[in-house]
Amino acid sequence: MNRLVLNLALLGIFLVTAGLNFVLRSDRTRPNWEYAPQMAHSPRANAFAVSTVFADGKTLREPPQGTSPRGLQSLHYAATPEDALRAGAELASPVSAEDRAAVDRGAFVFTTFCAPCHGAGGRGDGPVARRGYPPPPSLLLEHAIAMPDGQIFHVLTYGQGNMPSYASQLSREDRWSSIAYLRTLQHPAVDPGGTP
Ligand code: HEC
Repeated sequence: MNRLVLNLALLGIFLVTAGLNFVLRSDRTRPNWEYAPQMAHSPRANAFAVSTVFADGKTLREPPQGTSPRGLQSLHYAATPEDALRAGAELASPVSAEDRAAVDRGAFVFTTFCAPCHGAGGRGDGPVARRGYPPPPSLLLEHAIAMPDGQIFHVLTYGQGNMPSYASQLSREDRWSSIAYLRTLQHPAVDPGGTP
């Protein structure tokens, strides 16, 4: 007898709990109860909203003086022909000509980003040049062959004459790789049929 009462009582408690749960949580798209809501919903500011915290009213702050963002790779050159020559004298390519993976990557970069103007073989006969863009000089001429890697890096980074900068499209590694690949295009021209 006692057992029956106990079971009925447990069943009753279960039904009431389940019923309350169903009734009280009518909107199931919203959290029911939040512990420490100030942590879940911390105040934030919109970058371009007027700030009431800073005297100049700007929310977006300048980086503190003398700091640089994490991962910044500085390059202390200006977009001038003089600095292109200086880059040629100072910068050495981190990509070795023997690094097959880097040269292969350079081939992909060159075909994608350079061949439209310079042509797949670097002769200045790419489809963009054939359609009226001022054709670049052949990269197989002595001038480009004699250009140090660092100077070409400067050309890719800052542009030169009618060639735009490729700094925003190509990472530094990809710029150096494309130069390594360009050297493989130029090499037969330096020494046709000769030893590498
Ligand atoms: C939009 C067309 C265009 C693209 C794309 C382009 N170039 Fe050029 N490039 C030119 C032109 C035009 C010149 C000649 C610039 C001048 O007036 O001195 C040039 C010049 C150069 C020179 C100097 C050649 C010399 O003898 O002075 C190099 C090296 C070079 N480009 C490499 C590249 C590489 C590598 C890429 C790919 C990352 C590339 N270019 C992408 C148009 C382009």
